[in-house]
Amino acid sequence: MTTQQDIEQRLTDEVVASFANTPDPRTRELLQALTRHLHAFIREVRLTEDEWTKAVEFLTATGHITDDKRQEFILLSDVLGASMQTIAVNNEAYGNATEATVFGPFFVEESPLVGNGGDINASGTPCLVEGSVRDTDGNPVPGARIEVWEADEDGFYDVQYGDDRVTGRGHLFSEPDGSFSFRGVKPTPYPIPDDGPVGALLKASNRSPMRAAHLHFMVSAAGFRTLVTHIFVEGDPQLEIGDSVFGVKESLVKKFEDQPDGSTRVRFDVVLAPQQ
Ligand code: BEZ
Ligand code: FE
Repeated sequence: MTTQQDIEQRLTDEVVASFANTPDPRTRELLQALTRHLHAFIREVRLTEDEWTKAVEFLTATGHITDDKRQEFILLSDVLGASMQTIAVNNEAYGNATEATVFGPFFVEESPLVGNGGDINASGTPCLVEGSVRDTDGNPVPGARIEVWEADEDGFYDVQYGDDRVTGRGHLFSEPDGSFSFRGVKPTPYPIPDDGPVGALLKASNRSPMRAAHLHFMVSAAGFRTLVTHIFVEGDPQLEIGDSVFGVKESLVKKFEDQPDGSTRVRFDVVLAPQQ
């Protein structure tokens, strides 16, 4: 006798088989695994037709709000932890190399060249950021390109103002001894954009949109794995409450030292893993 389970399994098998002639082996693997996992999910939760319709409506709304300035699908991936899981899979720990974390949607190509000692021009508590770029044996990496970007004291990136200002971002290069420094501001916690479908998902699950305060870095140099990471602020209460996109790693939490003149300073020594 054919059971309900047989009917469900047969359908999964039929769909998996339908991708068997996909010429590219990796595409075939992805489509077949996606089919297996998606069907397993539907069967496990006994998905109702009404829930399926709601899911389609949710994804449709996610597409509708997405444009060249707003990427709601990345945000969805971020709050589901899919971005961090992809980072984990692709950035296996290598010796003492600095850990990677989420890229986020606010990086902009062609940021201004600020140079060592330069100011990335954000509003907030001034912060001197000093550090070095080294390989895993401790040798300096000169000429590494260091991209930095951060939100201002009100929790907004320049691109969120919609007036073409360029603030809180820039790039510089490590010196012959691997050192670098620039002036930014002490990061403050801010919410990820929560006025769209992803915000509705967070509200429906009683989750906060807040990110722990952080400063973004992307460090690249020939022969090394490009590092996308942040530093977080030791003592930030949001570290305890939780980060909406699961980006915090203990090794990236740094001490921001308050200075007598009201400014602050922090040190970040970057260790790059070799390109493999
Ligand atoms: C960010 O840190 O800029 C960010 C990361 C994930 C989602 C939204 C913002
Ligand atoms: Fe950010």
